Amino acid sequence: MSISRRRFLAGCATSTLALRQAQADEEILLDARPAFGAIAGIQTQYWGYNGAMPGPVIEARAGDTIRIRFRNSLPETTNLHFHGLHVSPTGHGDNPFLEVPTGEELLYEAPLPSTHPPGTFWYHPHVHGSTARQVFRGLSGPLLVRGELDEIPEVAQATEHILMLKDFTIARNGVIPEASFGQRMQGREGSLLTINGALRPQFSIARNGLLRLRVVNASSSRYYRFEVEDHPLAIIATDGGPLPSTRWAEDYLLAPGQRIDALLAGDRPPGAYRILNLPYNRGAMMMGATATPPTEVLGHLIYSDTTAQAIPVPDRLVSATTLPAPNFQRNFVLTEGMMGSFLINGRSFDMNRIDTHVQLGTVEDWVIENRGGMDHPFHVHVNPFQLVDSAGIIDPAWRDVINVPRQSSRRIRIAFNDYPGMTVYHCHILDHEDMGMMGILEMS
Ligand code: C2O
Ligand code: CU
Ligand code: CU
Repeated sequence: MSISRRRFLAGCATSTLALRQAQADEEILLDARPAFGAIAGIQTQYWGYNGAMPGPVIEARAGDTIRIRFRNSLPETTNLHFHGLHVSPTGHGDNPFLEVPTGEELLYEAPLPSTHPPGTFWYHPHVHGSTARQVFRGLSGPLLVRGELDEIPEVAQATEHILMLKDFTIARNGVIPEASFGQRMQGREGSLLTINGALRPQFSIARNGLLRLRVVNASSSRYYRFEVEDHPLAIIATDGGPLPSTRWAEDYLLAPGQRIDALLAGDRPPGAYRILNLPYNRGAMMMGATATPPTEVLGHLIYSDTTAQAIPVPDRLVSATTLPAPNFQRNFVLTEGMMGSFLINGRSFDMNRIDTHVQLGTVEDWVIENRGGMDHPFHVHVNPFQLVDSAGIIDPAWRDVINVPRQSSRRIRIAFNDYPGMTVYHCHILDHEDMGMMGILEMS
C-alpha cells in the first residue's frame, strides 16, 4: 500500500504538502485537523486530513491491509469510513459506529480480501449528525485499489488524474458557514465548484494521447452531470469496480458518493475544451423555486504536444460477473416527513435498533422506492450491488450508490457472502443521512 500526492495537479490546494511514498502495509498517519489555505483560490479556514483538501491518496492492492493511525485534531468527535471497500465492518475496520473524540488516536486496520476488485474509492467522516458538516468543510480523500484493470496495456499507458468534485461556500472572512435548517433539508450545496479544491483547474492532454480520469463526487449533496466538451467519456469502471466492456457516454450523472473511471482520447483539434457540470434537477427547492442549475464550468482540458503513436481505447476490459437470482426480496420506502425528518420505512435512524437482518450466504433484491419530492442517492456499506431493470435484466456494473429519482423506484441485487457484523445503508445526501435517512444492517 502506498500513499502519494503525485497524481494531483500542481497549483491546486493540495500541492504544498510533500510527496510521500510508503511501503506496502506501512502505517499511514492521517490527522483530521483544521487548516488554513487556498480553497478555490480563497484563503479559507477548512478541515483536512493532514491539513490537505483532498486528503492524501491512499493506494492499495487486493490482499493488502490498509493500516491508518488516525488522529482527531478537530474540536469535535469524528471517525473514518472507507466508502465502497469490501472489508469487514467490525472492530477497527470499516466500522461506522466507532467514534474518535477530540485529541485521541485510533489505529484503523482494514485487510482487503485477495479478491478485492480494483477501483476508485474514497474515505470520509461518518459520525451520525455531523457527517455533512465535516465533509462539507473539506474532509475527504481518494483511496485507490489497483489490480487487473490497471494492467490492461492501454489503461496502463494512459495519464491518470483523480478529480475530487467538491463544492464550497466561503464567507468573506474565509470561514465556511454553518448550513441553515432549510439548507440541511435540501442538502447543503456550495456555490464554488472545485476540482481537488481548485477553481477551474487545467488538465493537459497530449494530441493522440489518452487520459484516465477517476472522478469522485465528494460533495455533501450536490449532483454533477459531468461532461468534457467534444470528448465522449469511455467509461471503464463505476463505483465498485471495472466494467466488462467500455461504455461510451456524452455525459454522466454522479450523485453524491458516486465515482466513474473514464478514458478520454486526445483526438480533437488542439485547443482548450471546457469540463462542464450540465444542468440536472434533483428536486431540491433552492431559494423558494425548484432550481435547475445552469451549466457550470469546472475546469479545462488543454492540448499539449503530440504523442508519436495514438493509444486506442480498449473495448473488452474484464470478465463479466453477475449475481445469481435472489433468495429474498426486501422493500425500502424513502419519505420526507415534516420538520426535517427523513425516513426509511417510516422510521428515523436509531443507533440502538437493527432495521434489517440478512443471512450470510444469500443474495437479496432490494426495491428502493422514493415517495419524496427530492432524489435520494441510496448507499450500502461493505457489499457492492448490481442494478436490475424493470424487465429483470441485471446490469453487470458494480455500484455502491444508486440514485433513486423522486417518485420512482430502483431494484438492486446484493450478495452477502462474507463479513458478519453490523453496518449501515443510507441516503448519500449527507444532510439527509444526518437527519435520519439511515438504517442499521446486521449480517450473520
Ligand atoms: Cu460515503 Cu456511509 O458513506
Ligand atoms: Cu460508504
Ligand atoms: Cu436524501
